[in-house]
Amino acid sequence: TKSLPLKGKKVLITAGPTHEDIDPVRFLGNRSTGTMGYELAKKAVSLGAKVILVSGPTHLNLENDSIVLIRVTSAQEMYAACHKHYDDVDIAIAAAAVADYRPKEVSATKIKKQEGELHIQLERNPDILKSLGEKKTHQFLVGFALETDNELENAKGKLKRKNLDAIVLNSLKDIGAGFGQSTNKITFIDKNLDLSTFELKTKPEVASDIWKEIISRIHA
Ligand code: C5P
Repeated sequence: TKSLPLKGKKVLITAGPTHEDIDPVRFLGNRSTGTMGYELAKKAVSLGAKVILVSGPTHLNLENDSIVLIRVTSAQEMYAACHKHYDDVDIAIAAAAVADYRPKEVSATKIKKQEGELHIQLERNPDILKSLGEKKTHQFLVGFALETDNELENAKGKLKRKNLDAIVLNSLKDIGAGFGQSTNKITFIDKNLDLSTFELKTKPEVASDIWKEIISRIHA
């Protein structure tokens, strides 16, 4: 129906940062709050969808019978949770800020202070979104791009490289956009490279705009 355009659809959303352990008490992380992904999840439910939200560590709460919340810590855990559910879903949106690198060795005991420098070697994490793009069959797959320079070109490159149906670009040049903010300013780009640009808005409003763009393409 018109009011519930996502009725019968299953949606997978990733949100938040990942934490990559250094030792039992320390990790590498980033400033993602998870807000954008959680707002996308809530909006999807209000449009009729069933949602699986795979969330890294956040302070956000969520009580919603139509959302299955899977909490993970590391990129590898997020990867496993996403692949477990991917075959089942119609739409997947990767809004998480996944760490590109993790410590190569995780110390079983707290690392002690020592004289001089401490070197931590990092190794690459899997690119979750790219792996979903490679495995894609029927899913409509959406990624995010947060760029500081050559934003449009970089976002289009990611769209192609990761085999996406659309990408949401948020520019750090725009005041009020991106991490740790209650507002965001986005450009939605689909695989035909058709663009929609939006004004600075609150994240719930942005979630609503993103869903309108997706819905107009899955029912096209
Ligand atoms: O390449 P970059 O990390 O900038 O791409 C951002 C997009 O890819 C986001 O949608 C993010 O959730 C996703 N991503 C991912 N796994 C990674 C890195 C990024 O799913 N390891």
